[in-house]
Amino acid sequence: MPYPMGAQMKFEKNILCIGAGYVGGPTMTMIANKCPNYKVTVVDINKDRIDAWNGPNCPIYEPGLDEVVAKTRGKNLFFSTETDRGIREADIIFVSVNTPTKTFGEGAGKAADLQYWEKTARQILANSESDKIIIEKSTLPVRTAEAMERILNANTKGIHFEVLSNPEFLAEGSAMQDLEKPDRVLIGSRETPEGIKARKEVVAIYAHWVPAKNILESNVWSAELSKLTANAFLAQRISSINSISALCEKTEADVDEVAYAIGTDSRIGSRFLKASVGFGGSCFQKDILNLVYICHGYGLHEVAEYWESVVKLNQWQQKRFIKNMLGNMFNTVAGKRIALFGFAFKANTGDTRESPALAITRGLLEEHAEVIITDPKALPHAREDLRDIKSGVSFEPDPYKAAAGAHAIAVMTEWKEYQSLDYERILASMPQPAFIFDGRNILDHRKLFKLGFNVFAIGKAPLKHF
Ligand code: NAD
Ligand code: UGA
Repeated sequence: MPYPMGAQMKFEKNILCIGAGYVGGPTMTMIANKCPNYKVTVVDINKDRIDAWNGPNCPIYEPGLDEVVAKTRGKNLFFSTETDRGIREADIIFVSVNTPTKTFGEGAGKAADLQYWEKTARQILANSESDKIIIEKSTLPVRTAEAMERILNANTKGIHFEVLSNPEFLAEGSAMQDLEKPDRVLIGSRETPEGIKARKEVVAIYAHWVPAKNILESNVWSAELSKLTANAFLAQRISSINSISALCEKTEADVDEVAYAIGTDSRIGSRFLKASVGFGGSCFQKDILNLVYICHGYGLHEVAEYWESVVKLNQWQQKRFIKNMLGNMFNTVAGKRIALFGFAFKANTGDTRESPALAITRGLLEEHAEVIITDPKALPHAREDLRDIKSGVSFEPDPYKAAAGAHAIAVMTEWKEYQSLDYERILASMPQPAFIFDGRNILDHRKLFKLGFNVFAIGKAPLKHF
């Protein structure tokens, strides 16, 4: 899609977003859709990604996204690799580049790697010719805005940059719904007259469609820390119920019944209590480890350990799943074909970052199993993630073919389509005894057991024929 020169003349404001990923793409599409009076440009250093945004299929799978992109692209939404020019023309710049866990040097394995963020800040500085509002959309350590302000405002051009935090709370798979009807939008700024003026400009963007009561304003540090805290609390709930799932398996309590019973207490609430093989995704682990690193930095070691246990429990849950498979399949899976149903970290996305399926695949391969992976959307990423594996793993889009000849099926992702498969047909194609390990508790376990499967779910007594 051409990126028209001078198109900014028609629009009230020019918004730029640096980073066209899972956050930048959908959030800017929603802003463009709801604010036809603004020109929204999304830039990225990854040309293939930008070409895909400009092509018939968006580079990420997200229900409802393609339609809104098709409606707005070329009107007031543009995807481009021309970052320098985008910066020059922008009034407001959202930065949604990746902030992965650092893999090297000080803080390796915990701290956030801020190199992409800092490069972006320097590029903004080099190309700006007027005052700008810079918005942290990426998830960042608390007090990052301070460092950014120092870099940006150390300019000799007399340009003022106001750095704000507007963290994103969307979840993949429901991003468009989350963006259209957010529980809240959080905008943090300095509490100076300039900071508050900039905050109001950002409020004005969201006010196009978000009710005023759902737009929260705070100081910039609270906004930064609220994002890390929200992810830590969400992940903590999953680790909490997963810890109880282990106890359920020992005591014949049923974790779904326990979750339902506690969730009806309005103080606890029912959401995010689904026991599973573990949480995945690019953010929960990364953000908690970042929180842990920050706490250690402030000498708050007990706080750091408290939150780190959420990640440790999650890793243990995945190891426990493999051990359970092994133990129940007569202590060996060597040479046995095992079908993984799903590879995405959750349903309705093709994203596989930190998917529990990755850990399960590698664990099974260590046991010399032959792993066959099926997934409706994530096979391209699965192939990429496992490109270092030379043998023992294969990919099959059809779940029936994946299961044929397999000793066991392990459900890794809660794709709805796995609930309505013909399991009688599947059982007939598998060697006996046949096993199902439901890592998402989505199948009808009693029915499968009656058909002849040995069924092992998370946090439930096993249903076995021997
Ligand atoms: P992503 O990897 O999908 O996208 C980031 C993009 O930034 C990439 O396309 C990359 O090429 C681009 N980029 C990096 N450096 C650049 C530069 N200098 N100039 C231009 N482009 C550059 O990541 P994501 O999942 O969109 O996450 C982005 C941030 O948002 C992270 O901090 C993440 O923690 C946070 N976040 C993610 C989600 C989510 O659901 N994925 C939700 C909320 C917040
Ligand atoms: C999560 C948060 O929900 C978003 O609010 C946040 O913006 C985002 O992280 C981020 O910062 O990246 P996301 O990771 O996309 O969103 O998806 P979730 O729905 O939170 O699921 C995360 C993982 O937890 C998945 O593997 C999911 O299957 C698992 N999960 C979720 C459970 O095992 N049990 C549950 O009850 C809920």
